[in-house]
Amino acid sequence: MTHIYNFSAGPAVLPKEVLTQAAAEMLDWHGSGMSVMEMSHRGPEFMSIYKAAERDLRELLAVPDNYKILFMQGGGLSQNALIPLNLLGHKPAGATIDFIHTGSWSAKSIKEAGKYANVNIAASSTTAVPPQAGWRLTPAADAAYLHMCTNETIDGVEFQPDFDDARLAQRVLVADMSSHILSRVIDVSRYGVIFAGAQKNIGPAGVTIVIIRDDLLGKALPACPSAFDFKLVADNESMYNTPPTYGIYIAGLVFQWLKRQGGVAEMERRAKAKADLLYAALDADDFYQNRVAPQNRSRMNVPFYLKDESGNDAFLAGAKARGLLQLKGHKSVGGMRASIYNAMPIEGVQALVDYLNEFAGR
Ligand SMILES: Cc1ncc(COP(=O)(O)O)c(C=O)c1O
Repeated sequence: MTHIYNFSAGPAVLPKEVLTQAAAEMLDWHGSGMSVMEMSHRGPEFMSIYKAAERDLRELLAVPDNYKILFMQGGGLSQNALIPLNLLGHKPAGATIDFIHTGSWSAKSIKEAGKYANVNIAASSTTAVPPQAGWRLTPAADAAYLHMCTNETIDGVEFQPDFDDARLAQRVLVADMSSHILSRVIDVSRYGVIFAGAQKNIGPAGVTIVIIRDDLLGKALPACPSAFDFKLVADNESMYNTPPTYGIYIAGLVFQWLKRQGGVAEMERRAKAKADLLYAALDADDFYQNRVAPQNRSRMNVPFYLKDESGNDAFLAGAKARGLLQLKGHKSVGGMRASIYNAMPIEGVQALVDYLNEFAGR
């Protein structure tokens, strides 16, 4: 097999060690005679896999005891409906959800939430996180929660964890961290709900992680489907219905890999080194462009454009010939995008940088 680097935005590259271990355990997990895919989700074998995954994720993100971790199905998009369905039950009809709009994924969240509540776009930009002082928030008493996508996978805009907490007191923060969870140290206690689809930094598509503060459970609207009621899911250790067992197993292997690498702090150090290397090559002259304000450039998803966009196809063909795959930008914004998640080694970013320099004739 030729050596490649996979820059896909998701489903995305996974650590080689994890895939190798999964392959070795495919037919017979730890002498059980069964593949993980064949195990009852309530049996002792799978329960041990599940509990280890939950424990390791809690340790990696330092999730406080008063938060539950749910392993759900449905992907990131379904949370745009499930969060209002789960949080609005105790709010008067006409409650307002505040949003910070920073790109395509928060735009989708806004549209979906509008089916369930009033929506207030407190601030909007797709090239920077609008400064917090200018956010036009609903008065706290009328606000259900404040939703943000802390890393916009398509637009490449990432929040810095520099909130003015005094202004956010009394507010429930909901964060879509699908594309940067586990890549930087976060203070979970600042958030009411964190959610993430797995298929970028966690494992295969099909698992969705929800981290929710205890006091927000039990507030679902009557119409909330039981299998997606966070309290029922939490009370049943994510087994109210059959969870995505194989995906949880792979996620658990990724969590063990992360711990062996040195945990989230080490991932943050590596993410910064990789992103610095790549942005420096893009900024070296005006041959390439990244349009995001420097302080909010994503360390995970790096969109870029050729100054002369007629060279796009030649750029992508040359990249492919060098084993640099899936660099085409999202169809809604065009150009190119390099996703450099935790499992992307710095050698992959260096190979891309070498090619960027070669293509630019430097
Ligand atoms: C930030 C973000 N939120 C939500 C989604 C949607 O996830 P899913 O396709 O799992 O519904 C994505 C997918 O790329 C994403 O990047």
